[in-house]
Amino acid sequence: MKIAVYPGSFDPVTMGHMDIIRRGAQMFDKLVVSVLINTNKKSLFTMEERVELLKKSVEGAGLTNVEVSSFSGLLADYTEQIGACTIVRGLRAVTDFENEFQLALINRKLNPNADTVFLVTSAENMYLSSSLVREVGSFGGDISEFVPPEVIGQVTARLVNKAE
Ligand code: PNS
Repeated sequence: MKIAVYPGSFDPVTMGHMDIIRRGAQMFDKLVVSVLINTNKKSLFTMEERVELLKKSVEGAGLTNVEVSSFSGLLADYTEQIGACTIVRGLRAVTDFENEFQLALINRKLNPNADTVFLVTSAENMYLSSSLVREVGSFGGDISEFVPPEVIGQVTARLVNKAE
C-alpha cells in the first residue's frame, strides 16, 4: 500500500490545496493530509479548526482514500510513524522553490525512507494562498472562489470576527 503525506499549515484550506489533494489522492493508495506547525508563521485558525475545515472539505469532495490528521513534531518523524513513502508538496511559482528544495533535502536527511514529490499547481490557483484568503476575508471581501464550498461560511465568519 503506497501511503503519501501532504503536510502544510492549511490556515485555512484553499482551493489550491484541494487541487493538490485531489490529484495526490489519484496517485497513491492513501493520502494523509496533515496539519503541522510552521514555526515561521503565526497561525490564525487553531490546529483543531484547521483539521475540521479540511475534514469537511475532503468529505465534500468525496475523496474516500484521503485521511486528515495533525502532528506537532517533525514531518520526518510523522512520515516514519505512518509508514508513508512520499511527501507531497504543491509548487506555485519559482519563489516557492528555494524553500521547498531546502525542506525536501532536510526531510530526506532526517528520514531517508521518504522522498518528496512536487505537484505543480493548476494555473487558476497560482496566485492563491492562505494568507491572501485571510486578508481578503478579514476586510469583508468575497472569498467564495478561494475556499472549498463546504467551509465558506465558517471561514468567512471566523475572519470577520477576528477583524472586529
Ligand atoms: O503550508 P506550509 O506552511 O508551507 O507548510 C510547512 C510545513 C508545516 C510542512 C513545515 O513547516 C513542516 O514540516 N513543519 C513541521 C516541522 C518540520 O518538520 N520542519 C521541517 C524540518 S526542520
